[in-house]
Amino acid sequence: MSLLEKIDRDRLPAHIAIIMDGNGRWAKSRGLGRGEGHREGISAIKRAVEAASKASVRYLTLYAFSTENWNRPTDEVKGLMDLMVYAISKETPFLKKNGVSIRSIGDKNRLPEYARTALEECIRETAGGVRVTLVLALSYSSKWELAAAAKKIANDAVKGYLQVEDINEELLGNYLTTCGIPDPDLLIRTGGEQRISNFLLWQCAYAEFYFTDIFWPDFGEEALYKAILNYQGRERRYGKTSEQLEFEQ
Ligand code: IPE
Ligand code: IPE
Ligand code: MG
Repeated sequence: MSLLEKIDRDRLPAHIAIIMDGNGRWAKSRGLGRGEGHREGISAIKRAVEAASKASVRYLTLYAFSTENWNRPTDEVKGLMDLMVYAISKETPFLKKNGVSIRSIGDKNRLPEYARTALEECIRETAGGVRVTLVLALSYSSKWELAAAAKKIANDAVKGYLQVEDINEELLGNYLTTCGIPDPDLLIRTGGEQRISNFLLWQCAYAEFYFTDIFWPDFGEEALYKAILNYQGRERRYGKTSEQLEFEQ
């Protein structure tokens, strides 16, 4: 039985979020430049999208570039932007053919214009895809997102569009860039680090965390299925007791 066949279709994570880490170390371990690692990382993205689609995962969010990544050397930032533009433009037909729609979260205003244009074009072109929603976190960080949401809520309150009493968890969720996307069930981080690096802090309140030492460029179909199977072995209690959950079934 293959790993894919072992996955219980009744208990799928609806949304998997991935912190794709380890491109630089993958390249270094081969005596290559960091850019090579990022290039190889693109192939891993394609494999992950295909695997998620085969496993019927509805939402896949990929942390592609963080707010903090703007502090990397200028050459590396430029290389990452160019690679992103190249990849989404080249892969738009593949995405369309496979029913993948693209969405982005993050501060699009900080992206160079050519990157923003390419991204918006890809979002428009793939809008009809209903199989998988691929959410690209670009120039994203949770603290940025939460501060931006607070600003918008305050503005709307000042203008009288909402009352302070209306502010609750649901309303705040609607002001986040992830509005309409279910919270991640499973958060995967590759590359061996065990931290969240300012990613989906609000949305991962009840996500299951899965860490693997595999560097992102080496992450493939089987690795994704392994993570899903590990997730399916967990008991999600949401604060309740095991006995309560058994009784509810
Ligand atoms: C992840 O790989 C890709 C991005 C952050 C854009 P890294 O570039 O962080 O690789 P390491 O962590 O240095 O190995
Ligand atoms: C997190 O990786 C950001 C992305 C994967 C895009 P980093 O490599 O930038 O995170 P830190 O610096 O190790 O926390
Ligand atoms: Mg890293």
